[in-house]
Amino acid sequence: MDSIRACIFDAYGTLLDVNSAVMGHAGAVGGCAEGLSAVWRQRQLEYSWTRTLMGKYADFWDLTIEALDFAMESFGLQDRSDLKKRLLDAYLELPAYPDALRTLQALKEQGYLTAILSNGSTDMLKCAMRAGKLDSTLDACISVDDIKTYKPDPRVYRYASDLLKVHPNEVCFVSSNAWDVGGASSFGFNAVRINRQDSPVEYRFAMQKHQLSTLSELPELLQQLKR
Ligand code: LAC
Repeated sequence: MDSIRACIFDAYGTLLDVNSAVMGHAGAVGGCAEGLSAVWRQRQLEYSWTRTLMGKYADFWDLTIEALDFAMESFGLQDRSDLKKRLLDAYLELPAYPDALRTLQALKEQGYLTAILSNGSTDMLKCAMRAGKLDSTLDACISVDDIKTYKPDPRVYRYASDLLKVHPNEVCFVSSNAWDVGGASSFGFNAVRINRQDSPVEYRFAMQKHQLSTLSELPELLQQLKR
């Protein structure tokens, strides 16, 4: 990985804390907050994969709303329209993880191109990067909405590589999502998994190059690999 020129990041779950939308309203949600957040995220991702396979693309904001509707009904909260609006508003302004900004700043200082490659729609990402105060540290914010298909379709990673004018083996791709790391690695990126929960390794057929517990370890890892 000594030929890295660009560090490309997944957004939701990697730079942005997806669970904070619900957990920040745990009082209003009640005892099912953790379950609601988990079902919401799982269905949001499931819909992105199934719609891609069906050839029935809809943007990530539509899927996020559909997934929340399912999750809220699953926990008997379907009549709480006020709560639904609050959760969706929170999702547009998810906080970045505490080490996200300083990690991106360190990578810029080391001379890397920095970008996001996300399923999020362009508007979702604009809101999120502004809320997370990350926009000033990113050279590009790439939404799959440009090509109307979702990760881990290899066309997504190819699109980012072409847009940034970097060869796949010049890219360090960073994600907390094992399936996204597998897709990026399978395409040809040097994939790094941010595994905050120390989950078991998956997608061994398309192995990550490295696994870290936090974003903040990444600049040092890249420095070490250059030596
Ligand atoms: C993204 C989701 C999949 O940001 O985490 O693309």
